[in-house]
Amino acid sequence: MDKIVALCKRRGFIFASSEIYGGVGSTYDYGHYGVLLKTNVKNEWWRAMLQERDDVVALDSAILQHPKVWEASGHLAGFSDPMVDCRVCKGRFRADHIEERDASLACPRKPSKLPGEGGECDLTEARDFNLMFETTVGPVKDSGSVAYLRPETAQGIFINFKNVLQFARKKPPFGIAQVGKSFRNEITPGNFIFRTREFEQMEMEFFCPPDEVDRFYQEWRDARFDWYVKLGIRPDHLRMRDHDADELSHYSSGTADVEYFFPIGWKELEGIANRGSFDLTQHASHSGEKLEYFDPQTKERYVPHVIEPAAGADRATLAFLVDAYEEEEVAEGDVRTVLKLHPRLAPVKVAVCPLVKKDGQPELAREIFTTLRGQMQAEYDEGGSIGKRYRRQDEIGTPWCVTVDHQTLEDRTVTLRDRDSLEQERVAIDDLPALLAGRLAA
Ligand code: GAP
Repeated sequence: MDKIVALCKRRGFIFASSEIYGGVGSTYDYGHYGVLLKTNVKNEWWRAMLQERDDVVALDSAILQHPKVWEASGHLAGFSDPMVDCRVCKGRFRADHIEERDASLACPRKPSKLPGEGGECDLTEARDFNLMFETTVGPVKDSGSVAYLRPETAQGIFINFKNVLQFARKKPPFGIAQVGKSFRNEITPGNFIFRTREFEQMEMEFFCPPDEVDRFYQEWRDARFDWYVKLGIRPDHLRMRDHDADELSHYSSGTADVEYFFPIGWKELEGIANRGSFDLTQHASHSGEKLEYFDPQTKERYVPHVIEPAAGADRATLAFLVDAYEEEEVAEGDVRTVLKLHPRLAPVKVAVCPLVKKDGQPELAREIFTTLRGQMQAEYDEGGSIGKRYRRQDEIGTPWCVTVDHQTLEDRTVTLRDRDSLEQERVAIDDLPALLAGRLAA
């Protein structure tokens, strides 16, 4: 993980937030390449949800919602984690994450018999800690102005079920998809962007007739697992794990996690849950609205059941980074660091480089760059030796480099370097746009 964190900082993907003030616990800012990478992850998710199917529609609901939403969803009463305190150092830890702590249970305040080491924390019994961030809305701060930052995007979908049914001309089975920020006052955030207090989710609620829910649960489990594989994650670094009955959330009658083999071990990447009719029934009873579907053909009225694939955009970004990271010996004693990201995820698709900064090469390279950037994220790079520029592009995961050299000025061909095979082919400038577009779509 340390190598990924270092690369992310070195190349401006992701860095600690509020750094000039000493940082603010486990909060991260995304720089240029980080924004491009995470945007590509989200775009690929949208592509799978919207473009490659015709039974899912998009939604962007507000982060601040009526407090009753969280009463109905069960979050106010039960969205908590077990917390333990150390009686000596006053540190607070999530009871079920103790094994993930960086410094095990070494207590900074408790002297140990061994020099330089603290003794173990002296922990209290676990108690429930609610993870919702509270705020107030409007100029008067009183109990009537309390609101919460959403801890999941899902509830914004359920409370819009009626609107979408009316305006999207859909009937079950159909889904509503949403991407957006969620907030959880995690007791022990950590492991870089794996667990943070502010993060982005990619969630879809698939509403279906109750008797078809098992079929769709299976379909979505398969579809979501395959999404990661198609985008280049090594299948042996992924597994599907069914929750035991005592792990299930209050709303779920079945949940399976897509897990990834992170440097910190097998961890949840995405959950696929059978939420049944829990949420629509709860919101119907708390709001007084009928949240059901009347089938004009069968004349049946029913509350749809819901299958929910819920993924984290930051956690997926971390998994793609970890899986793509390689240190390769390209010649004896010469090691390159390379991000073998799927081309569609790569922040920059192509870098255009003049071999030297003279003889008309920069001008022609800029011309090629201007043409290519019209169709994909491209970068013009003329600083430093060509070898150093290739290594820089390898580190940010650019799948192709186009180099303009003296021959280009004679026959209008360039070299096209492949990030993974390191092969270089000679290609006519006029053929480049179609060739790269084809490789990107493959
Ligand atoms: N609506 C269901 C739901 O929110 P979840 O398992 O709590 O389910 C779904 O969250 C996904 O959101 C997780 O699989 C993970 O990828 C991401 N996620 C949850 N908490 C997170 C956190 N504190 N930091 C980063 N990502 C998180």
